[in-house]
Amino acid sequence: MRPRVAIERWRLCLQRAIDSCPGPLRRVVVLEQTDSTQDAARRLDTEIGDVIVAVRQTAGRGRFGRAWADTGREGVAATFVVPRDRPERLAIAAAVGACQSVLAACRQRVEIGIKWPNDIVCAHGKIGGVLVEQYDDRALVGIGINVRQTSWPEDLAGKAASLAQVGARAGRMRVLVMLLQDMQRTLCMGDESLVMRFSAREVLTGTRAKFRSARRIVEGSVVRVDPMKGLAVLTDSEGEVWLPAATTTVIKE
Ligand code: BTN
Repeated sequence: MRPRVAIERWRLCLQRAIDSCPGPLRRVVVLEQTDSTQDAARRLDTEIGDVIVAVRQTAGRGRFGRAWADTGREGVAATFVVPRDRPERLAIAAAVGACQSVLAACRQRVEIGIKWPNDIVCAHGKIGGVLVEQYDDRALVGIGINVRQTSWPEDLAGKAASLAQVGARAGRMRVLVMLLQDMQRTLCMGDESLVMRFSAREVLTGTRAKFRSARRIVEGSVVRVDPMKGLAVLTDSEGEVWLPAATTTVIKE
């Protein structure tokens, strides 16, 4: 692994990363410690095109009000301030960007995939997650990636995993550089390119899962996932049913 980049140099290195790659991101703000980069992006005087990176995030938020564990000095936490858009599109751009960046950052081959809608997973558990929140004219696209953690709080044991735990020797700065550059690209990709990249890494298809969709529970084998539209699921009782992406959540897989 390369020598660690001193924290004072993070901003410069990350600013160079976005400047070297055309895209909508303009300015990097590095915070030594913050509760949540999503909240910091709202509190600070941020603009569209800003990226907020925390060296340590202590009280991150996940989807459905869940907590995202303290990153310590081991995880990556970043929020991208971008123009308001369809949430599915932003979530796909982020999941594809996060997945590609992890693959590019690791020198070893790592088996990772995207579990619909936007979890980055490996055989050991969840490596990264995406949270999209919108207000006024802007969207805050938050990405968390577990890089060097070797132990987890009790409630996450067996569910969360880090790159270090799958044998990948990547440092946080390398993951962040790749993430910012990949997000420069995915944020301006057309829907078709995004769906193609998403589908190449999507791992829910072919598995059995349970969903909550428009106030009912549906269980069955996932036949097809279109991340912009929805899922086809083969159930025992009703045959194949279509679940719209916007109103469906996975409750068990
Ligand atoms: C999920 O899987 O439920 C989404 C997790 C998103 C976590 C990231 S870490 C950076 C950003 N700041 C937060 O508070 N949450 C997101």
